[in-house]
Amino acid sequence: MRSADAFLMESPGPKPVALITGASSGIGRATAEAFAQRGYAVALVARRAERLEEVAQACRQAGGEPFVLPADVVRRDQVEQAIARTIERFGRLDVMVNNAGYGVFASVMELDEQELRRVFDVNFFGLWYGTVAAARVMVPQRSGHIFNVSSIIGKRGTPFHGAYCATKFAVCGLSESARVELRPYGVHVTVVCPAMTRTEFFSQGSMARRAGRAFSRFSRTMAPEPIGQAIARTAGRRKPELVFTLGGKFLALISALSPRVADGMMEMYRRELLKEMEEVT
Ligand SMILES: NC(=O)c1ccc[n+]([C@@H]2O[C@H](COP(=O)([O-])OP(=O)(O)OC[C@H]3O[C@@H](n4cnc5c(N)ncnc54)[C@H](OP(=O)(O)O)[C@@H]3O)[C@@H](O)[C@H]2O)c1
Repeated sequence: MRSADAFLMESPGPKPVALITGASSGIGRATAEAFAQRGYAVALVARRAERLEEVAQACRQAGGEPFVLPADVVRRDQVEQAIARTIERFGRLDVMVNNAGYGVFASVMELDEQELRRVFDVNFFGLWYGTVAAARVMVPQRSGHIFNVSSIIGKRGTPFHGAYCATKFAVCGLSESARVELRPYGVHVTVVCPAMTRTEFFSQGSMARRAGRAFSRFSRTMAPEPIGQAIARTAGRRKPELVFTLGGKFLALISALSPRVADGMMEMYRRELLKEMEEVT
């Protein structure tokens, strides 16, 4: 097995290169900064250019070489162009972190079809575009690492997140297939499953309208930095998945062993969430 800093040692140029989507905020930003601290050149992709400039400044201060690439992951041409421009600028791509995504808050019965298609466009198709475009670079160079950000609720469906969970289950399935297909070419694929994390995730769209303040009262949340650090530390290592928090690991295990017990836990979560929502409204 290659060491954690394999790309740092192997890179023929001055720096190994990581491209991170959704780098303007939260987990993506923390991941970009973590790679920058390890001396990587970091290509930063998201829609908000001014926010990417702020992240670039932080990455520069941390010792990395940032490259701002505003793009919408829903647009396949923009994802491919971001990778092409990264290669043009740095000559290689060692790590691809497909992280851009957002949440939807709605019961399965009340889901709007357009919203369901939109969240698949971003969370699943955007990630697939990134996976394929990165693999096309990494397979010929016989090296590379793709991190696909799913969620702990990409392993167990939770109430009011049916659309979001469906996208994240899809991410896990796609990534497991890709992992075995790309392994003979020296390309690793790792699925990242964060638990509830303090980011802007809960303050956008239906998450904010319906339950954002209730979620902010849940105490069991983690900061994005340890997730970014873990991703950067894992680059070059053959690790199938990163699952965060003891609670997250327990939920994944219990869902696999006993869906009935997991249902009971989810019913408790549903009641707790509804109570929080009543209290904040
Ligand atoms: N927070 C949690 O509790 C949690 C838990 C498990 C998994 N996750 C996953 O972690 C990932 C990052 O989420 P976060 O918590 O860090 O949320 P966040 O702070 O809201 O960050 C989301 C990022 O995705 C980018 N993005 C959204 N739509 C995009 C698009 N169409 N094209 C390009 N970029 C886009 C946003 O940038 P722009 O708006 O500038 O485009 C932003 O940089 C997501 O995939 C999320 O599902 C989060």
